Order: sequence, then C-alpha cells, then structure tokens
Amino acid sequence: MIFGPGRLANLPAVLEEVAGAQAKIFLVTGRRNLRESGVLQQVVGSIGSPRVTLFDQVTPFPAPQLVSDALEACRQCSSQVVVAIGGGSVIDVGKIVSILTTHEGACQEYLTGERRISHQGVPFIAVPTTSGSSSEVTPGAAIWDWETSRSINLNHPEMFPNVAIVDPELAMSMPKELAAVTGMDAFTSAFESYWSKEAEPVSDALDLQVIQWFSNHLENSCTNGDLASRSWCSLAATMSGVAYSNSHPNVCHAIGRPLTLFWEVAHGQAVGITLPSMLRWTAPAISHKLPALWDALGVNGLEEATGRIVQIMDNCGLKTSLSSLGINPDGIETLVEHTRWDRVSALPAPLGHDDLRMLLRDLL
Ligand SMILES: [Fe+2]
Repeated sequence: MIFGPGRLANLPAVLEEVAGAQAKIFLVTGRRNLRESGVLQQVVGSIGSPRVTLFDQVTPFPAPQLVSDALEACRQCSSQVVVAIGGGSVIDVGKIVSILTTHEGACQEYLTGERRISHQGVPFIAVPTTSGSSSEVTPGAAIWDWETSRSINLNHPEMFPNVAIVDPELAMSMPKELAAVTGMDAFTSAFESYWSKEAEPVSDALDLQVIQWFSNHLENSCTNGDLASRSWCSLAATMSGVAYSNSHPNVCHAIGRPLTLFWEVAHGQAVGITLPSMLRWTAPAISHKLPALWDALGVNGLEEATGRIVQIMDNCGLKTSLSSLGINPDGIETLVEHTRWDRVSALPAPLGHDDLRMLLRDLL
C-alpha cells in the first residue's frame, strides 16, 4: 500500500513494476467525476494514452450486466494490467475484471457460482477516491442484481489488489454527503470487526485505531472537508479494510443489505443506522474489551459511547432512525426476512429473529 497526499504520481512507476513498461492498461472509472476534476486526463497523460483502454461506465451499485460489459471490453483489448480509480463500486468492478480476464467463461457463471475462480488474474491496482469501502485492501467485490433484489459477493484470496495507492487529495473531491456515508461504512465495520467472534489481537489493534481516528476526524471531514481530516479518514478507511479482511463485518452489514435493496438507502447509512443498537446488544458479551473501546471513542461507558456515535452521525448529516429513512412498522418484517442471517452468527451475543424485531422497532 502506498499512502499520502500526491502519491497518485507514483502510478506510472507502480505500473512498470507490476506489469512492465509497455503493458496494455485497462482503466476503470466512474462516469463523470474523474474527468470533470481533470484527474483522468492527468493520469492518462502520465502513462501514455496509446496503452490505455478506458472503461468509464461504472455506476454506484453495479449490476451484473455492467460487470459483463467491462470484462468483455478488457478481454477484447488483451490488457495486461487493470487500474481502477474511483469509489468502492469502481474498484469492485475492476477487481472482478482483473481476475476473470484470465478465466474462461461468462461473468454471470462466476456470479452464480456455476464456475469458480481457480487461479490469479492480471495485476490489479486500486486507487480509491472515497474513504470508506476499503475495497482497495480487501479480496471481495459486491454486485447488485436489482431484478432479483439480491446482492452478490464475490470473494477469493486471489482478488486482493496487488497495489493500493491511497492519495487523500483524491478524497478532497467528495461531497460532504459522500464523505459521511463512506466514512460511516468503515467506522461501522471497525466496530463489527472488534466485537466479532473472529476478532484477534491484530484486528483488535487496527480496529481501535480506526475507531479513534474516525471519532476524532469524521465530523470535520464532513463539515470542513480539509485535507488533514480527509487524510485521517482515508487512512482509517483503508486500515479498517485490513482489519476486516481478517475479522469480517457482520450484523450491521447483514441488516443494511435489505435497507439498500428495498429502500435504496446508501450503503454507509444503511449499515450505520443499527450501530448504536448493536453496540448495546454486544457490549455485555465483550466486557473485557470495552475499556479499550471507550478509550478509542473518548468516552466513559456504554451510554456515553452510543450517545457519541449518534452525535457523530447527527453532525455528519446522517439519519439515526428508521422512520427518517422511510421505513414504517410494516417494513420491519421485510428487514428481518432479508437480513443476511449467515453473517449474524459471528456475533458474540446470539441474536434471534424476535430480538432483531424488537431492536428494529425501537429504532423506528
Ligand atoms: Fe461496507
């Protein structure tokens, strides 16, 4: 991982190191922001446009067809390295393209599980422009099938990006709302990773640092958007991904999925809404780990901790009740039914369907 303001300038040297000086490059981006900010032209200019095939069609919550189109374009131009510059969706699409371009068969067959990833892809360089998906340091990618209201997660150890270039200057272009939802995603993941049964001392140390940095800087990143606070949040988001590649996001992400699929709630908002409730639920089961958590948050106990999280969300313009996201009491059953229950098993305090109904009703 390469971190620091201005480090995007390292991209040509990184490309040469991982793929050779003449390698053909498949560049994945979103539709507008990178071009409008001038970064796209700067990047293509620095590596030489004849070597670059640009795929600039990625939208948030990418659908299977979009990933298929990107894969087809990459295979046709025989690219030897994939670079993705953008938010989590852009990096996820680039990640899938880089692994499947060396595999036989259609993209859809891998998304449905008919075929399995069996060997490495072409080198993949991830350059995030938001601070929260952490996809630049994880081996997973999320695809959204809106026709069947399903999200598909593709995961394989060969899908870890070869290099992540985390340049906080790129995060300066994030609107405040995006800084809030992406930051809340990584902030929530750090708590989930910390209370998980999968947690171990290394992920604990990283998670506590992530929680401390977001607690100190996320509000400023959203309200002032200055380089210092955006830099701390960039670093925290990336570190969160390193932690949760070992100890995975669980219950808040499990409940967040139907909020996004059925109410189109932004991912970070969807996972963050249950963070205070789930901290209250899990705290008794991790009592030996709570003093360090309170230190990281700068509080003196559970009530102060949940209050501080709600305060951060309020100050960042995030919603803290389900009704303010458009969910009424009838929606609770949909949420309970479509929660990813396979992820809930990582909780140290067992959570059943009735428990979740009660917690969600309290959140209305
Ligand atoms: Fe997430």
